[in-house]
Amino acid sequence: MTRKILVTSALPYANGSIHLGHLVEYIQTDIWVRFQKMRGNVCWYVCADDTHGTPIMLRAEKEGVTPEQLIERVHDEHTRDFSGFGVKFDNYYSTHSDETRQFCELFYQRLKAAGLIEARSIEQFYDPVKAMFLPDRFIKGECPKCGAADQYGDNCEACGAAYAPTELKNPRSAVSGAKPELKSSEHYFFKLSDPRCEAFLRQYTHHAEGRLQLEAAHKMQEWLGEANEHKLTDWDISRDAPYFGFEIPDAPGKYFYVWLDAPIGYMGSFKNLCAKQGLNFDDYFKPDSDAELYHFIGKDILYFHALFWPAELAHVGFRTPTSIFAHGFLTVDGAKMSKSRGTFITAESYLQQGLNPEWLRYYFAGKLTNTLEDLDLNLEDFVARVNSDLIGKYINIASRAAGFISKRFDGKLAAADAQLPAIRAIVEAAPRVAELFEAREFSKAMREIMALADGANQYVDSVKPWEMAKQAGKEAELRLACSNSLNLFRLLTVFLKPVLPAVAKDAEKFLNIAPLTWADTATLLPAGHAIHAYSHLMIRIDPKQVTALVEANKESMAPMKRRAPIRDKNIEKHINKLQSDNEAAGALTTENIPQISIDEFAKVDLRVARIVEASHVEGADKLVRLLLDIGEEKPRQVFAGIKSAYDPAALQGRLTVMVANLAPRKMKFGISEGMILAASDAEGKTSGIYLLTPDSGATAGMRVK
Ligand code: 2FM
Ligand code: ZN
Repeated sequence: MTRKILVTSALPYANGSIHLGHLVEYIQTDIWVRFQKMRGNVCWYVCADDTHGTPIMLRAEKEGVTPEQLIERVHDEHTRDFSGFGVKFDNYYSTHSDETRQFCELFYQRLKAAGLIEARSIEQFYDPVKAMFLPDRFIKGECPKCGAADQYGDNCEACGAAYAPTELKNPRSAVSGAKPELKSSEHYFFKLSDPRCEAFLRQYTHHAEGRLQLEAAHKMQEWLGEANEHKLTDWDISRDAPYFGFEIPDAPGKYFYVWLDAPIGYMGSFKNLCAKQGLNFDDYFKPDSDAELYHFIGKDILYFHALFWPAELAHVGFRTPTSIFAHGFLTVDGAKMSKSRGTFITAESYLQQGLNPEWLRYYFAGKLTNTLEDLDLNLEDFVARVNSDLIGKYINIASRAAGFISKRFDGKLAAADAQLPAIRAIVEAAPRVAELFEAREFSKAMREIMALADGANQYVDSVKPWEMAKQAGKEAELRLACSNSLNLFRLLTVFLKPVLPAVAKDAEKFLNIAPLTWADTATLLPAGHAIHAYSHLMIRIDPKQVTALVEANKESMAPMKRRAPIRDKNIEKHINKLQSDNEAAGALTTENIPQISIDEFAKVDLRVARIVEASHVEGADKLVRLLLDIGEEKPRQVFAGIKSAYDPAALQGRLTVMVANLAPRKMKFGISEGMILAASDAEGKTSGIYLLTPDSGATAGMRVK
């Protein structure tokens, strides 16, 4: 029977780049979806950008663009990265869409009608300068437990303690630097503590129901507690303006919290696909739907997907997910991805460095299981495994046989020997390999496939076509040996196609065959079938490419990625010139500065900056190293050519103005992440440098316009 399957991956936030950590999930899902499609099932894969919330609103403000402009740009970047890695969504949409808004409103109305929404007044930290309530991550202060400075409002990175933001000592707003005030406001809660929700979730999350992996089911039971504990608390689904999101229909100034609309975005994206494809949405979402619904997610967001989301769906009157597939986190060389070590690798940089995305797809497949365990990308092992498995075992089967068929037999194959043990082994393994793909046991599937490839190579090594080719009268044997080899290669390609879609496509072209499906594991190419000339299907990884990739990511550390590059070439050139002039404390004359339009000027992000630290730079006679607070998580480092005019000690604590969206620049002494503004005379005499200072009342992070 043809199954109807709807699959999602978690929606990435629309304010960050896709990195290898994200790709674990998208590649895992994509492999599974491709496998389902090859099996002949109807399978739809949808996703979207997760566009709402305070961080996106503030990020847009910092960039001097509207949130809509920001999310549109990031949508393009994400689409480019996913397609670069062969992740093929049937729809990649946005939560900032009419479909998602309509579903949000419907959820709210139905939950309210069911008595599952409650309005309550709560007290929260409020930033009096920015006139906004502060999410926990935007409040910083000293840890109430260990006293560590500069800790977030929800937990301490130094001692690991979790606390409420109101417990922080000397709290300050990470947005404006202001001292936050406690202010009360009305919020809307989804009553998860309602006995109906609790009863539903106790059953839904039980492992025996088959919806959750064992470890995940245990975690949920732990969160639910014993029946008499009633551990579930109500969930705050609203936020106050200013907020980038959907306004709650009957509550002006109140917005749906981003985590309310994010999973609803799965439905929004699918609804949009239904309109494009003429599908019936209800077939997939009505309560008694026979379609399957799967969410692939990281284990960190299980709470939202296994508790809040099914409880909402069940009480709004939609079907609930068939299963939730959580995976672990990616480590690189055994450690958390690190910007300073260059192991926080973006999808864009991987592609830009010219590495083949299918190397990574294969490596991840070789590590992926259906558990919540973390997986490690060991860079040395990555090179070794790809070269030995993909090139040494798989590609070689084709490259060693193709030439003889093309040159000696006009590209035409003989009938392969269906009883050849290596061929039989593959045909017989097909149901087993399919089960492993179905169960998301990709690493086991890859091991099995490579063992079959070993068998194929043993066959080639035993018949030695290259020796037959030198002997007279061995034409028929040579043709059979090469035809067997190419059939072995074709069968292995069926198995690897979900993992290596681009190689498979090229292989289909080379073999001159229609797109392979799983059913092709039961057939062989007929006698006389003509193949095309072989050209490289995949080349080996040179370890130097991996070294270069790590180096490239060291140079483009997070601070450099915080902002979009300035795309306008003219203004970029102009700013670079200003920057080098500034560093050298050279002349800024009106003659050599071209006129710019107001739009060009608006691209320059000028910020009030507080000099947190100023120090001499060893070996530099003009530069001072500054650490500048502009309301971001970490202060920026800037090297400024002001040493002749300022004693670093006197600069500490001062406010000045910086260009915050200048492309970071690698200098001999480190990376300079911006530029401060100073006045000097026309000749740029080093004696006359005057740092700009804003009027009193300005605080770090304010925009200068
Ligand atoms: O954790 C995250 O990156 C979220 N943007 C995932 C949302 S998944 C779904 F609920 F939309
Ligand atoms: Zn602490």
